[in-house]
Amino acid sequence: MQKIFNTLIDSFIDNNVGIAENFLSASLSSHLKDNMDNLFKNDLFLSAGTGNDTTVAHNKSVRSDRIYWLDRKHNDPWENDFFDLMDKFVSHLNSTCYTGITGYEFHYALYEKGSFYKKHLDQFRNNESRKYSMITYLNTDWQQEDGGELCVYHKDSSQHISPLNGKSVFFKSSELEHEVLVANKPRRSITGWLKV
Ligand code: OGA
Ligand code: NI
Repeated sequence: MQKIFNTLIDSFIDNNVGIAENFLSASLSSHLKDNMDNLFKNDLFLSAGTGNDTTVAHNKSVRSDRIYWLDRKHNDPWENDFFDLMDKFVSHLNSTCYTGITGYEFHYALYEKGSFYKKHLDQFRNNESRKYSMITYLNTDWQQEDGGELCVYHKDSSQHISPLNGKSVFFKSSELEHEVLVANKPRRSITGWLKV
C-alpha cells in the first residue's frame, strides 16, 4: 500500500501531477464499476454542475458528464473499501508531507459517448477548501481511439493521460488547469477532492 502511495506522491513532487497505475486492485475497480453501472441504470446519476452548492450551474457546453456522490451512509462494501483506502492514503500523505487534509468528497463520474469537460480549475472561486484533486479510472480495455484523455496544462506544455483502469491521478486543485477530451465511448471514474 505504502509503495503505491509513494509512487503517487513522488510523481506529484517531480511533475506536479502524480500518477499511479494500479492504485486500485482489479477486483475493487471491477466492483466499483458494477456499482456505477447499476446506479446509472436506476437513473440515480445527476447532471454535473459547475460551481458549488450556492452557485451551481448546469452548463452542458462546459461539461456533460453525470455524477453520483459516494457516501459511507450507503453501507456499500465496495464504496467503503474505497473510502478505507482513501483514509489510509490521506493519513500517509498527512504524515509524510504535512498536508493537513481533514476531509474529502468523491463522486462517480460517467462520461457517455460524446461527453467532455472543458478546460478548468477544480477550486471554486468562493471556497478554497479543495486542496488536491484525485481521479481514479474504471475503464478496462481503453484504446487510444476511445479519446477521453485527461489533458493537463503545464506552464509550457500539456500532458495527456489516458483513463486506464485502476490508474489514479493527483494534483493541486487551485493550480493546474485541465480538461477531459471528448470520450468516444462511456468513460468511468471516481473523482474527488482532498480538503482542509
Ligand atoms: C473533474 C475533472 C478529470 C477526469 O471532474 O473536475 O477534471 O479525468 N475530471 O475525469
Ligand atoms: Ni477538474
